[in-house]
Amino acid sequence: MHKDIKFVSADEAVKVVKSGDHIHLSSVASAPKILIDALVRRGEKKEFSDVRIHHLHTEGEAPYADPKFEGVFFHQAFFVGGNVRKSVQAGYADYIPIFLSETQKLYRSGVLACNVAMMQVSTPDRHGFVSLGTSVDATLAAIETADYVIAVVNKNVPRAWGDAMIPVSMIDFFVEDNTPLEPAHFSEPDEIECAIGKNCAGLIEDGATLQMGIGAIPNAVLAQLGGHKNLGIHTEMFADGVLPLVESGVINGANKGIDRGKMVSTFLMGSQKVYDFIDDNPMVLMKDVGYTNDPFIISKNPKVTAINSALQVDITGQVCADSIGTKHYSGVGGQVDFIYGASLSQGGKAIIAIPSATKKGVSKIAPVLNLGAGVVTTRNHIHWLVTEYGAVNLYGKSLQERARQIISIAHPDHREELDRAAFERFGPHFHFIG
Ligand code: COA
Repeated sequence: MHKDIKFVSADEAVKVVKSGDHIHLSSVASAPKILIDALVRRGEKKEFSDVRIHHLHTEGEAPYADPKFEGVFFHQAFFVGGNVRKSVQAGYADYIPIFLSETQKLYRSGVLACNVAMMQVSTPDRHGFVSLGTSVDATLAAIETADYVIAVVNKNVPRAWGDAMIPVSMIDFFVEDNTPLEPAHFSEPDEIECAIGKNCAGLIEDGATLQMGIGAIPNAVLAQLGGHKNLGIHTEMFADGVLPLVESGVINGANKGIDRGKMVSTFLMGSQKVYDFIDDNPMVLMKDVGYTNDPFIISKNPKVTAINSALQVDITGQVCADSIGTKHYSGVGGQVDFIYGASLSQGGKAIIAIPSATKKGVSKIAPVLNLGAGVVTTRNHIHWLVTEYGAVNLYGKSLQERARQIISIAHPDHREELDRAAFERFGPHFHFIG
């Protein structure tokens, strides 16, 4: 351990939290569980009130979002993950709509206060630096702006490079805990997801720079890329699916316009294999989210191919990815950052990839979005739409042309009904559009 570090207990460290404070927690596997538990112990004794908690998606429990803490904690998410979804939908917790690229700006601009930043870090190196490991995202900005920084030093946090490396002097309190990081769980792609993966892979050219969003489809796409050459990664997150492609040399970053030869990301969701892969790996740069997700920086790479998913798409190409009707399900995340960045990149392709229907048989392509659904990617931003039935490029197409193309890749069971709705909307001319 570094000679300057003095450890305190988690209970001691969280004593700095006072009523009305805003707290930032690092995301995904890096959520500082031991500090959350200590905070909740104080919350149970009602030692403070109206403490706001902010974070992106976190793995593990989120006890502060429990309705029993009404008035004590108020969770305001930057992204609604599974562990806080019920509370947000019931109104006990809330969501701040924000592009992932701008989550850091909320803190740096002072729009949102950060009184206490809490995160996990690697053990310090001989130069007095620790790594933020799997969560740089808005966490670095929170550290820079917080009144107090509390870090859990955990030997299981990988020593990721890039902006992840910070000097111990930025940290006020150190707490030791070596609990293994919480892995993310992904199911194996099913037949439909594999078909979507193939249709997306058909659009990916050699030399492309990839961004893959969240959900099962990214891994299904990556599984199809074994025969590709010189792919690069500039993304907000990656998971296990990239590892075989790095090993086989398919992903080598040789064609990138910036950060050539490097894989760039801002947070990671995966198994222990991913955490081991980034540990002390100079090929991986974990960067500030204001860098990874800036559309103009994204566009400096050639052939940026961004693949993201959605909950519902209407027949004009409006994409809802954050809610089911009025019920908030996730968040905008980096979808718009990358869809726009890809569309600005030389030879870039912005792709929304969805199964044509849910597992319960509800069509994900609808005449109009559900009442209350949020438009994440507008009909002006959308380019490619992919389902298991094919891929269509909507860019530069009129409303009626779009409707025709979108319906052509809807589930066959729903095409007639969608066609009827389009006919009602656009009138008899619709049937003559090629
Ligand atoms: N109507 C009703 N229910 C729907 C629906 C629809 N049109 N579409 C999906 N659902 C339901 C599913 O049945 C499923 O329900 P279940 O949990 O009870 O099984 C649930 O919503 C999730 O759908 P699924 O298709 O399994 O989601 P996914 O895990 O593939 O994730 C998004 C899809 C859109 C939620 C995800 O990509 C996301 O959060 N995107 C927004 C942000 C983004 O793209 N960021 C960039 C990368 S981080």
